[in-house]
Amino acid sequence: MSESLLELNDVHVNFPARTNWRGKVTERVHALNGLDMVVHRGETLGIVGESGCGKSTLAKLLMGMLKPTSGKLELARSPNSWLGRGMQMVFQDPLSSLDPRLPVWRIITEPVWIQSRSDEKARRQLAESLAAKVGIRPEYLDRPPHAFSGGQRQRIAIARALSGQPDIMVLDEPTSALDISVQAQILNLLVSLQQQQNLTYVLISHNVSVVRHMSDRVAVMYLGQIVEIGEMRQVLDAPQHPYTRLLMESVPRIGAPLDGAPSNTELPGNRQLPAGCYFRERCPYATARCSEVQPLRKLANGHSVRCWQAGESTSLQ
Ligand SMILES: Nc1ncnc2c1ncn2[C@@H]1O[C@H](COP(=O)(O)OP(=O)(O)O)[C@@H](O)[C@H]1O
Ligand SMILES: [Mg+2]
Repeated sequence: MSESLLELNDVHVNFPARTNWRGKVTERVHALNGLDMVVHRGETLGIVGESGCGKSTLAKLLMGMLKPTSGKLELARSPNSWLGRGMQMVFQDPLSSLDPRLPVWRIITEPVWIQSRSDEKARRQLAESLAAKVGIRPEYLDRPPHAFSGGQRQRIAIARALSGQPDIMVLDEPTSALDISVQAQILNLLVSLQQQQNLTYVLISHNVSVVRHMSDRVAVMYLGQIVEIGEMRQVLDAPQHPYTRLLMESVPRIGAPLDGAPSNTELPGNRQLPAGCYFRERCPYATARCSEVQPLRKLANGHSVRCWQAGESTSLQ
């Protein structure tokens, strides 16, 4: 197995949701509830799950925009090194993340410039070489971001992320705001950049077909936990957790995006966490034993599932 770049151990994140008249927090939103995961150099780890399951909270945590309420996050690179914490992010909506007043050559090189303050000429040259990698013509580099189409803006956002020489690129719904025809071009660009530069991606999406196209491994999230994780084909083609099966059944055959919640149920609140298996109330196979806490168990094929009924097993933890 290749070098691990990031490790999460029993990470929880919650937010105050309600306070009483004294300002004391009386209710919390439990966004992440015991995440364990490792990211290896050169892989794409796809994270899939419906809206509200904690995907963007995970992205913010990886970027250092949020701290764990409890648990541990370990990075291979020290956050004090000159390249920062080694993470760069590509957001769903590139316009919201690109400064509208700057020409794109400055935007593209911002991460590296913040870190090393190279001279203007070197900065411009770097912008041109990054632009060439992502398919933006150098003569357009003096324009502001709003002069570009959605797909081009996403190319600019990718170039910007690359300039920070990240260990890990966090891609949060990178193509969800784009037209279908442009989505494939951006995904293919990401794949070819990864092959050229051995990049590592954490790809977050509610769209199972995007995750299938890109990922080596897939983690399925439900209510702030990983309920299933393993090799992409094993998880998506032979899902073991009832939630993953439900998620896969609600994906139309053609591979169109899954929008919102699976059809027959809705996501229960994450203010009052269920006892035992979080999916129990929605699960067609639930039994009395599901009221016990379900650990993530490793099956014989290396794939881990948070359900006592899944496959043949050896105890993971
Ligand atoms: N800053 C915040 N304050 C309060 N609740 C939040 C905050 N950020 C996220 N949440 C809540 O945490 C849960 C997970 O949100 P999020 O990570 O955005 O999910 P996803 O990206 O999977 O849709 C949701 O219930 C959301 O409302
Ligand atoms: Mg989100």
